[in-house]
Amino acid sequence: MTAPLLQLQDLSVSYGQVEAVHQVRLDVNEGEIVTVIGPNGAGKTTLLSAAMGLLPASGSITLAGERIARPSVEAMVARGVALVPEKRELFGEMSVEDNLLLGGFSRWRKGQRDQARRMDEVFEIFPRLRERRAQLASTLSGGERQMLAIGRALMARPRLLMLDEPSLGLAPLIVREVLQVVSSLRQHGVSVLLVEQNARAALRVADRAYVLEMGAVALTGDAQDLLNDRRIIDTYLGMGGAVHAAAEAR
Ligand SMILES: Nc1ncnc2c1ncn2[C@@H]1O[C@H](COP(=O)(O)OP(=O)(O)OP(=O)(O)O)[C@@H](O)[C@H]1O
Ligand SMILES: [Mg+2]
Repeated sequence: MTAPLLQLQDLSVSYGQVEAVHQVRLDVNEGEIVTVIGPNGAGKTTLLSAAMGLLPASGSITLAGERIARPSVEAMVARGVALVPEKRELFGEMSVEDNLLLGGFSRWRKGQRDQARRMDEVFEIFPRLRERRAQLASTLSGGERQMLAIGRALMARPRLLMLDEPSLGLAPLIVREVLQVVSSLRQHGVSVLLVEQNARAALRVADRAYVLEMGAVALTGDAQDLLNDRRIIDTYLGMGGAVHAAAEAR
């Protein structure tokens, strides 16, 4: 069996005296879409930040079998990991195109001058960005901004894309559109770790899921099974969860 693309083992993260993530074990295999769901303050963003090397953590982070001794953003980026943070951090006064080019900068610096081809691929994935390539990022709609944030991350040609709540602030129809694209990234050789509060939307596109509660993994399993799990339905999917799941299954 090949090693998981990402393996977190007993990852713990503290802010001062307060532990926000407690001994999390999590795998993302090649070609998988894995989601971490959980309520506000569960530690989802903290977990992703630590996995990206943005926060110090105890435990271990292993990428494709290689244990990362000193996790840092540079180490993660060099090994093909990209993060789309909760705050999208776009450059509002720059065009769509320039935001994308910045996403490809680390490749450019390494002498890989394939930015035009990469941008074309991003425009194939998000045709709406092509139409708006000259538009300032600050004037995009919420959904378009999210697409740009994901597109910019894809410019680095990641093997693993980590997304922090891409559905945040988007209308349900746009959430569906964005997550459908996320699920199609597999065909581009990108595996995904998707953090979401929108449990229903996330479970629909994911292969496997982890439920994070108060910093620890409370439950894990196949996304389809969790969609039908009584406890998940009651806690995270609200009324009608079972009905929806049944309708989806038909
Ligand atoms: N910089 C910080 N300093 C101290 N405590 C923090 C810091 N960032 C987060 N926390 C605390 O850590 C816990 C987990 O926060 P985190 O942002 O990871 O949760 P989350 O699951 O991403 O929540 P949300 O769904 O609201 O984004 C919370 O109790 C939060 O108050
Ligand atoms: Mg968060």
